[in-house]
Amino acid sequence: MRQFNEDNLTAEVVKRLGKTKDKRLREIMASAVKHLHAFAREVKLTEEEWFEGIKFLTAVGQKCDDKRQEFILLSDVLGLSMMIVSLNHKTVPGATEATVLGPFFAHGAKEYGYGADLREGATMKGEDVWVSGRVLSLDGKPVANAALDIWQAKADGIYDVQTEGEFELRGRVKANAKGEFAFASYKPKFYSIPMDGPVGDLINTTTGNHMRPAHMHAIVSAPGYQQVITHVFVEGDPYLDGDAVFAVKNSLVAKYQKISNAAEAKKLGMPNPFLKLEWNFRLAPEAGVKARKKIAASDAVA
Ligand code: BEZ
Ligand code: FE
Repeated sequence: MRQFNEDNLTAEVVKRLGKTKDKRLREIMASAVKHLHAFAREVKLTEEEWFEGIKFLTAVGQKCDDKRQEFILLSDVLGLSMMIVSLNHKTVPGATEATVLGPFFAHGAKEYGYGADLREGATMKGEDVWVSGRVLSLDGKPVANAALDIWQAKADGIYDVQTEGEFELRGRVKANAKGEFAFASYKPKFYSIPMDGPVGDLINTTTGNHMRPAHMHAIVSAPGYQQVITHVFVEGDPYLDGDAVFAVKNSLVAKYQKISNAAEAKKLGMPNPFLKLEWNFRLAPEAGVKARKKIAASDAVA
């Protein structure tokens, strides 16, 4: 067939894609083509505009390297990452809600036990916080042998992996047999997503929305339970309603309490006064859930 125009072209592309052996790939490609063509038709995309689009996507690719993932950032700011999280992680009532992974997770973080100090080796100080809680099942029973991958930005809003140097404010914290975990860290602060690339340029010419409310990242895993990729946000943060990547859930907003108690500070090895965050993670059982890939210490995240 030949003589294609805006009325018959989509159907022909989809027909040719019918040869794709993999059923799921066929479905995804056909839908992507239909939506892309509909988008071009709807906005009557000009050749100059599409060339600008190609230039933008090229720049996004060129900004990527082993440390920088501009495509994840693009997916995040377009709300696509959060859309995919929502579609794939329907929260089981009572379980900790999932949210975006973001581009700054890293494998190979140091392992810590109960009472760890994630501030060790920190190049920048912050407000000292003692984080403690339990990993629980939906019926409130302790989950044994849970591991928490924790990471957060430094006081300047930059993640350790964005610069040369050692890991900082990051660790793989093991909970004990009663599901209890505790570690010292700094209170997270709000920060800007990276704005020095094409995604930053896009934000500057569109929404201007580039701030993330303060948060600590956590991936909580335990044998027999669904892994949850989540955040703990800070109550009162000015950006909770304007998160650049749409990741805030009410159930993930936590209170940091100020503690002035010399004896308690001494017992925990904290300065007096200090902040305290008490936070439990609740995991849904794995049974009956379609197996999905977990992030493990040995995996590579693109
Ligand atoms: C983050 O929380 O680390 C993050 C998430 C999405 C985009 C940029 C940063
Ligand atoms: Fe973050």
